[in-house]
Amino acid sequence: MAQALHYKDLGLVNTKEMFKKAMDGGYAVPAYNFNNMEQLQGIIIGCVESRSPVILQVSGSARKYANQDFLPYMAMGAVQMAKALSANIPMVLHLDHGDSFELAKSCIESGFSSVMLDGSHHPFADNAKLTKQVVEYAHERDVTVEGELGVLAGIEDEVSSQISHFTKPEEVEEFVEKTGVDSLAISIGTSHGAYKFKLKPGEEVPPLRFDILEKIEKRVPGFPIVLHGASTVVPEYVEMINAFGGKMDKAVGIPEEQLRKAAGSAVCKINIDSDGRLAMTAVIRKIFYEKPGEFDPRKYLGPAREELIKMVKHKNEKVLGSANRI
Ligand code: G3H
Ligand code: 13P
Ligand code: ZN
Repeated sequence: MAQALHYKDLGLVNTKEMFKKAMDGGYAVPAYNFNNMEQLQGIIIGCVESRSPVILQVSGSARKYANQDFLPYMAMGAVQMAKALSANIPMVLHLDHGDSFELAKSCIESGFSSVMLDGSHHPFADNAKLTKQVVEYAHERDVTVEGELGVLAGIEDEVSSQISHFTKPEEVEEFVEKTGVDSLAISIGTSHGAYKFKLKPGEEVPPLRFDILEKIEKRVPGFPIVLHGASTVVPEYVEMINAFGGKMDKAVGIPEEQLRKAAGSAVCKINIDSDGRLAMTAVIRKIFYEKPGEFDPRKYLGPAREELIKMVKHKNEKVLGSANRI
């Protein structure tokens, strides 16, 4: 790997202050996944224009895709771009679904300001042990750590599970105490990807388990909670994809009002990846359909980036409540 970097030298922050403000203000900070320049710029411009703090998150496979030595400088570029747009928005570079101490350590050494250790597939004791090991290393460097208890269903590249297990509120307190984590991802009915529920005709999306969330809030008052798998799977994008040559039948996600309710609770971070992918794909499909001769990437990636900006602003302003919080 190239030379070691610390996130503060890149102009990034950790999640501590961000989550405290989100908890006090009754909103959630958006955590958008990215792996290329257009996505990153779309997210940053959307957050600058809505004056929202942002968590830029990268999975292990996205880090490989973008190149681990290149990635920190993309984040540094994002900080500089926001400054040039005259908005000093707080930005976190976060490892999404880290699965080993080595990966978390490598990210911390290359400029990440926050890491997730997802040990949710392990038994409680092993999950706690691994998470604690990462917390000790991270905290020495002022990096924050997200853990996970409970399993989300859904299939998504390197994150996959056929079944979900809701988080057991009675385990949360012990996990938080034992590990020293700064935030905790929980399972209350969300799942990864664009096919979150198998609905029969006429059936509605089942509501999230706010009863479990409330029990967790009582066990660890004021502790930041994270929601993964929180894309709405925006129906307009799915319709556009299907209208212009795609095939995404029965794609369905979490309704916006459920996310609004969650954002007003102890949920301080809401993860969105699939909606960004859908927004860009929908626009690109339409352009390719209408202009089959187009071959300049700027002519389709540019409009895709514009759509992502629109989507990010909408989420920040109308769903998560993170707009105008800087
Ligand atoms: O939750 C996982 C994220 O959507 C990242 O997915 O591994 O395909 O980058 P990925
Ligand atoms: P979605 O697939 O619902 O966008 O979830 C993303 C996520 O949880 C990333 O960690
Ligand atoms: Zn996730």
